Amino acid sequence: MVLSEYRERLLEAAREAAKTAYCPHSNFRVGAAVLAAGRLFIGCNIENDSYGLTVCAERVAIFNAISSGCRRIDAIAVACPGGADRLLSMRLTCGACRQVMAQFADGDLPVIVDGLGEIPLAELMPKPFRL
Ligand code: THU
Repeated sequence: MVLSEYRERLLEAAREAAKTAYCPHSNFRVGAAVLAAGRLFIGCNIENDSYGLTVCAERVAIFNAISSGCRRIDAIAVACPGGADRLLSMRLTCGACRQVMAQFADGDLPVIVDGLGEIPLAELMPKPFRL
């Protein structure tokens, strides 16, 4: 199946994943879905009373793929249902997650943002840190 056919499936999976978000502090639900090795991996944001320990939905989904043995990701979708009326910046993925994406993908990684469209990673993260 080509990537364009996956777009809607990834978005659907991301919206579904947002339903399990654990976000008692922000009440801001985020879901993510990653395509890697032809498989789909999901994640939601998980907050903590020690605020800095919160993990974003994107990283949960990516780490899910990596811990299942994948080493490259082919696409990622992000959704914050109820986010349609939110500012554009609130629907974009955070800098830490962009850096993590760059670890496992090239700049042409399609970052599919619900309600916004597809943005190549290189546009969101032009100069990632690399060792
Ligand atoms: N959040 C994500 O899940 N992804 C992002 O890219 C940005 C922020 C989560 C973290 C926190 O639980 C809530 O959204 C508010 O920052």
